[in-house]
Amino acid sequence: MMIREPVFFENNNEGLDVLTEIIRSTRKRIFLVADTHTSVHCYPLLEKKINAQQLIVIPAGEKFKTPDTCMYIWKRLLESGMTRFDQLIALGGGCVSDITGFAGSVYKRGVSFIFIPTTLLSMTDAAIGGKNGVDFDGYKNLLGTINQPENVLIWPGFLLTLTERELKNGYAETLKHALIADAEFWHELRIDPSLVELEQIIERSAVIKHTIVCSDPFEQGARKLLNFGHTIGHAIESFHLKEGGDILHGEAIAAGMCIEAILSSVTGLDRTQVEIIIGRLKSVYKDKMPVIPPADALLPYLIADKKSTPGSLRFALLRRIGDAVYDVAVDIQTINKAITDFNRF
Ligand SMILES: NC(=O)c1ccc[n+]([C@@H]2O[C@H](COP(=O)([O-])OP(=O)(O)OC[C@H]3O[C@@H](n4cnc5c(N)ncnc54)[C@H](O)[C@@H]3O)[C@@H](O)[C@H]2O)c1
Repeated sequence: MMIREPVFFENNNEGLDVLTEIIRSTRKRIFLVADTHTSVHCYPLLEKKINAQQLIVIPAGEKFKTPDTCMYIWKRLLESGMTRFDQLIALGGGCVSDITGFAGSVYKRGVSFIFIPTTLLSMTDAAIGGKNGVDFDGYKNLLGTINQPENVLIWPGFLLTLTERELKNGYAETLKHALIADAEFWHELRIDPSLVELEQIIERSAVIKHTIVCSDPFEQGARKLLNFGHTIGHAIESFHLKEGGDILHGEAIAAGMCIEAILSSVTGLDRTQVEIIIGRLKSVYKDKMPVIPPADALLPYLIADKKSTPGSLRFALLRRIGDAVYDVAVDIQTINKAITDFNRF
């Protein structure tokens, strides 16, 4: 399946001009979805150049990645007369692209949508691969589609207004891409990269994801590798969200990667590498590494996980740094032991 590579633009005004020229060249009316932060920090940089027909502003954050927000978008699209010949654009982080991609995949049986990611997490991961969706009834991404954006346009300049915590949040997926696919990249990644270093990191990380997705767009095989850290990570995230905790996706995934690195002894990851991985992740996330509840508390979320099959929890695990395998069955007792082990680190 041919999926367009993300397009990377230089981090200067000319880079942004080239990006907006690509949008203008569609010659379509633009309907743009932003959230309450990106409408303030990012939209003004594009506003005059793309001359959108309609700006739809949704509330920011995971709490609003819901069917209700989708309904709001559909209503606004309908009221403002969007047709299948128009262009939908998401300007924002992973929440905005996940919701907009889903809304656009369903509206009038599907309209063309473009992603302009504005967080590190969305530039390196969420905007790439065509997974769209919303959370439902406390479960992450329960409703969604796999449907590719027309284009993913990446301009690192948007990162300037992102908080330090949000930058680290995004870094988790880059660390994951290195761990599953590129040992050399993993060794080059520093604990605290500068914005200039991030420009190169974004491209390398996004290309790893794009390459894996192209080899298996509908997650029948290799794409499952991208789930490393996410089976436990999503359960931790859902657990804390339900408890009303303050947790970001990348922080949950960082904790998930620690536990799944320990579980990877099943697939041959040696203990020294486990210690290196956990040491690095703890140095990056420090006090933002979430508390991990006992496996029993995570179980309902693990069972609801889309990757689980009836009666079996399946994981993507590491054989060594830079090399992963998928569909490894692990039982709940082993997960419990891994959590106890991690709490001693
Ligand atoms: N579809 C996928 O393949 C995929 C992959 C990974 C993660 N995700 C999803 O992505 C979401 C997390 O993504 P995220 O962290 O980008 O979330 P997000 O969209 O909520 O953005 C994080 C915060 O940063 C703000 N923000 C965004 N860009 C900004 C900017 N340039 N300046 C200032 N503030 C800005 C947002 O308003 C929000 O408050 C989760 O819902 C996760 O499930 C999806």
